[in-house]
Amino acid sequence: MIKTLYMAPMLVYTDNTFREVYFRHFSGFDRAVAPFIVVAENSRYRKKSLQSLLPSLHEAIPVEPQILSKDPDACAALANLLEDAGFKSVNINMACPADAVVNKGRGSGFLPHPERVQDFLASVIPKIRLPLSVKVRTGLYSHREIEALIPVFNTFPLSEVIVHPRLGVDKYEGPVDLEAMKSVAATLKHPLVFSGDVSRRTWIDFSSSFKEVERWMIGRELLRDPFLPEDIRAYERGEADRLREIVPLNRERKNRLRDYHDDLLDTLGKKINRQEALVGKMKSYWQYLEALFPGREAEMEEMKRILHLDEYNIWVNKLFKE
Ligand SMILES: Cc1cc2nc3c(=O)[nH]c(=O)nc-3n(C[C@H](O)[C@H](O)[C@H](O)COP(=O)(O)O)c2cc1C
Repeated sequence: MIKTLYMAPMLVYTDNTFREVYFRHFSGFDRAVAPFIVVAENSRYRKKSLQSLLPSLHEAIPVEPQILSKDPDACAALANLLEDAGFKSVNINMACPADAVVNKGRGSGFLPHPERVQDFLASVIPKIRLPLSVKVRTGLYSHREIEALIPVFNTFPLSEVIVHPRLGVDKYEGPVDLEAMKSVAATLKHPLVFSGDVSRRTWIDFSSSFKEVERWMIGRELLRDPFLPEDIRAYERGEADRLREIVPLNRERKNRLRDYHDDLLDTLGKKINRQEALVGKMKSYWQYLEALFPGREAEMEEMKRILHLDEYNIWVNKLFKE
C-alpha cells in the first residue's frame, strides 16, 4: 500500500515560512495540516493577522488549514472564509492539550464529552461546504473516551480523522498508546491518519503493526530529522538501508542541512525585524535540530546564551565546520 505522509501542524514551528523553506530543501511529504487558527469573536479578523496564519494556496503540496473553536457558528464562518480564500478542506482541532485551551472546553477539552462533539459537528456541518476532518487525541483523561467518540464520528461525513494516541493530560510525555490506536483503527469508518512518535526508529514497527493505515503524520521528528520523510519514501520503495541511523551526518547531508538552515535564517530574517527575536526563533528550531549533533552539548548550551546575530553566525559556522 502506498503511504501518504503528512506534515503535522506545530504551532510556532510549521508555519508558512517554515514550510516554504522546508519544501525548497526536502521532499517526501504529500500533504500538510497548518497550525490552528483561533476563531475571532464576531468573526472579525484583521486581514493582516489572517494572512499570516493562512496557508498559501501556492505551497509545494496541499495544505489544510485548522480551526480551534468550540463555537459552531464562528467555526462555520471561518470555514466559509477559508473556502472563499480557495481552500479545499478544513480541519477542526480537538487535540490541543494546553490548559488555557482545555479549560475553555476547546481542543482536547471536547474529548470527555461525546454529546458536545455530536452537537458541535451537527451544527457546523450543515453550515459549511468544505469537507471537514478532525484531529483528536485518544482522550483527555482516559483512552476510554475515544471509544465513545468513534460512533459519533462515524455518523458524520468526515473526510478523515487524525488521531494522536496520547491523553491530553500527558501533554507530549510518555509513549504513544498503540492499543488505543488499534481500537480506533478497528472501529473508525473514516480514513485514519496516525500521528505520534513516527521516526526512523519506529517506522518499521508502526507501519507493520498498522498495515491497514495508509496516512501517516510526522511532527517533532521532522524538526529533529528533516531527512526523515524522503528516507521513509525511499525505504517504502525498497531501499532497506535508508532508515538506518544518520548521525553523525555524512558530508552530503551536512551540506544540505547547512543550506536549509541558512535559507531558514535568511527567509525568517526578511520577516522578523528584531535581531533578538530572529535569533530566538532560530534557537527554538535548534531545540530539535540539536539531535543531529550528538556530543556537541556544550556548544548547544553556549548557543542558548547568544542574543545577537553576528555571534549566532559565528556559532553556526563553528558548529558546521567541525
Ligand atoms: C510545539 C508543538 C505545537 C503543536 N501545534 C499543534 C497545532 O497547532 N495543531 C495540532 O493539531 N497539533 C499540534 N501539535 C501536535 C502535533 O501535530 C502532533 O500531533 C504531536 O506532536 C504528535 O506527533 P509527533 O510525535 O510526530 O510530534 C503540536 C505539537 C507540538 C510539539
